[in-house]
Amino acid sequence: MGYISVAVDGPAGAGKSSVSKAVARSLGFVYIDTGAMYRAVALYAIRHGICEDRQRIIGSLCDIKIDIRYSENGQTILLNGEDVTDAIREESVSKGASAVAVIGEVREKLVAMQREMAKRGNVIMDGRDIASVVLPDAAVKIFLTASADARAQRRYKELKEKGAECELSAIKEDIIARDYNDSHRQESPLVRTEDAVLVDTSDLNFEESVERVKGIIEKAIG
Ligand code: DC
Repeated sequence: MGYISVAVDGPAGAGKSSVSKAVARSLGFVYIDTGAMYRAVALYAIRHGICEDRQRIIGSLCDIKIDIRYSENGQTILLNGEDVTDAIREESVSKGASAVAVIGEVREKLVAMQREMAKRGNVIMDGRDIASVVLPDAAVKIFLTASADARAQRRYKELKEKGAECELSAIKEDIIARDYNDSHRQESPLVRTEDAVLVDTSDLNFEESVERVKGIIEKAIG
């Protein structure tokens, strides 16, 4: 019997990761955060001072080894053996990830890894191009989104809770810029495929979002 794949795409900050993670846990699926893989490549580029140098990033791809480990506590991302789970969440890495994600060769490498992962079990994979490129035959496709205002508010709250200095207007501008970058790039832009179910979480809380997504999956896979 083949394994079941669920594709969850959408813009930054819509709650894809947290919702997908919770749904995966509840259904016994493996959650795969593809954004973390782009972030790991970006972190490598930042540390080697080659962020602006497309050719050197491409040339370094064979030196970049990314592993994802799963445990009770969730997912750990390893970059050449080092645990970078927290380091890849820095704002500078978010920006860097959006930049390296436009490089076709980077995408090719990561997409191949992602397809291999989906062959090994039932997965919920989240990203920007999962339904359109990585897993076009996924059993369930979901496009999870929320208004830029709602996403900025959530991010602001998150950062404030961590004690970070931040401004709501700057966060919103960042979100809009990243959306633009992700949906206007030439390589696998963020798109909602025709067969994807739209879930707008602007007016849903976390639990409601999880229930909505879980319901769509359960209905589709019976
Ligand atoms: O979901 P995230 O914020 O962790 O993603 C980081 C960046 O990587 C984001 O700018 C978009 C890009 N990305 C992508 O191009 N394709 C994916 N499948 C996942 C993320």
